Amino acid sequence: MENLKITIGRLTLKNPLIAASGTFGYGEEMARLCDLSGLGAIVTKTITLEPREGNPPPRIVETPAGMLNSIGLENKGLKDFMFNKVKFLEKIDARIIVSIAGGSMAEFQTLAETVSGLRCVAAIELNLSCPNVIHTLQSSRYQLIAQDRKATAAVVRAVRKKTRLTLITKLTPNVTDITDIGKAAEDAGSDALSAINTILGLSIDIRTGKPRLGRIVGGLSGPAIKPVALRCVWQLSRAVKIPIIGSGGIMTGSDALEFIIAGCRAVQIGTAHFIDPEASSKILDEIKTFLRKNRIRDIMSLVGTLAGKGD
Ligand code: FUM
Repeated sequence: MENLKITIGRLTLKNPLIAASGTFGYGEEMARLCDLSGLGAIVTKTITLEPREGNPPPRIVETPAGMLNSIGLENKGLKDFMFNKVKFLEKIDARIIVSIAGGSMAEFQTLAETVSGLRCVAAIELNLSCPNVIHTLQSSRYQLIAQDRKATAAVVRAVRKKTRLTLITKLTPNVTDITDIGKAAEDAGSDALSAINTILGLSIDIRTGKPRLGRIVGGLSGPAIKPVALRCVWQLSRAVKIPIIGSGGIMTGSDALEFIIAGCRAVQIGTAHFIDPEASSKILDEIKTFLRKNRIRDIMSLVGTLAGKGD
């Protein structure tokens, strides 16, 4: 039997497959469509302190080899999460990673401290990289917190003070040098990095001359972004010591293995779930078959084994 177990900070997963935030809700609806037992972990849809309505519709558009979304962090807020979502999350076998986003340092801290008190929560993912909202922090407005090394470090440091849970920082590819932001998060106390969030894009309907998304621009995900995501995680793996969780267009077992070879200890499956809710189970089976065929006993022995060095 091949060993698929991996650890990220204090978090141990039975396998390296994680359902990406925003593609799996809070688990309950997806449980009606697929078997959750194949997943190592689920990242919840990002929660904020107060409910958010999200962006004007349309909020999703299909593109060649991808999908643009402009949801705008729609969610019912922390109280609803505590009263209505946790009950189901407590029952499932996969580990739970809660994605949080704050409009201020105090909001980030309240969210982190509150969810850290829940028995079913194993880790926190800091969403500093949603491209569909304007980020605010200490009276500054940021296109994205994760585009600014100082703001990223400040949030990680503030949240680190409030939780002993494994802290994962989700990064954006919409920067000149992702390693600069990754290093800032590591130095500030993040236990792991998650990369990449979506790439800012635009789609136009030429018949009307209008943008297809209500907010004009949105985040591109799916196979179209896989090469960019692979480049980012490979660069990060050479720049930081903490584990990297890769995401961006993973649709098959061989896609997931590319990310692991590039330096990821775990991978997140996102857009694939919109096409096939069972995508993660199929990806897991393909990984197992690859390991068996190649007599690889431990998935960890593949992490960061990319041949060739680059500059
Ligand atoms: O718009 C959204 O809710 C997407 C969030 C994200 O990409 O992090």
